[in-house]
Amino acid sequence: MIKIAIPNKGRISNGVKKLLEGIGISVPENGRKLYVSTDNPDIQIMYARAADIPRYVESGAADAGVTGEDMVWESEAEVEKLLKLNFGSCRISLAVPVDSPIKSPADYKDGMRVATKLSNITRKHLSKMGVECEIVPLAGATELAPQLGVADMVADQVSTGNTLGENNLRVVEDIAESSQYLIANKKSMEEKEEEIDTLRVSMESVINAEVKRYIMANVSSEEELGRVVEVMPAMDSPTVLKLAKEGAYSVHSVVDKSTLIQTIRKLKRAGAKDILVMNMSRVVD
Ligand code: PRP
Repeated sequence: MIKIAIPNKGRISNGVKKLLEGIGISVPENGRKLYVSTDNPDIQIMYARAADIPRYVESGAADAGVTGEDMVWESEAEVEKLLKLNFGSCRISLAVPVDSPIKSPADYKDGMRVATKLSNITRKHLSKMGVECEIVPLAGATELAPQLGVADMVADQVSTGNTLGENNLRVVEDIAESSQYLIANKKSMEEKEEEIDTLRVSMESVINAEVKRYIMANVSSEEELGRVVEVMPAMDSPTVLKLAKEGAYSVHSVVDKSTLIQTIRKLKRAGAKDILVMNMSRVVD
């Protein structure tokens, strides 16, 4: 049995649920419960605040967890980062009211009040620049702090930028880029190696499948076959199947979604017909 800590709210909780569903774990609503069982008897979900997940994973209260890299930096928890996920990445930015005299980092001053839920990251960054700021620690909705007169600037995650825009704030500086990760407890990785590795490989296979497509194309001669195989990208080598009709073949492969249009164009030019493209649910390297 492994316990996986996931965020109970915020920007990324839907992405985590979708990923878990992709690997066959349907996650029930938590209600007020801390741990919830899933339809997989080997997996228990633990709902927590994204900021607390690194600490729970470090202590072993959860064997694994999904949270942002920024939450790991902020907590300084000793955990293993196992897999970068394909959703919820953001920048950590310093932002000020649109009419602030602070136009660039050169305008930072000692004593400047910075509202943030990322106190450690922010203090370290500004200290490195030789600025001793006053941190105003908040648990969320930091964007309101300048309007309320309790801070001169905010340090927060920025994804679409909508929250900053709605609160009349503008970015002065991006401090870091942060991605979502599957993280694990170091001891659990030894004691539950197989379960945790299965979790990592399953998530990776779902992420791979989202950026790849299965493609099939038919040819009606050996000559066309040669040309199509030459232009067909593949993870290793395309599959060639003989069709019932004499001299005809079907060429199958897995290609990057981003290059699909170019691939189809090349295949048609090489003589391919009946081109089919399909989504996949998993791709294991
Ligand atoms: C983060 C962050 C911002 C918002 C930015 O909060 O603190 O408020 O997302 O996103 P945007 O640029 O797309 O508008 P999150 O939803 O993670 O929740 P939290 O405030 O509860 O931590």
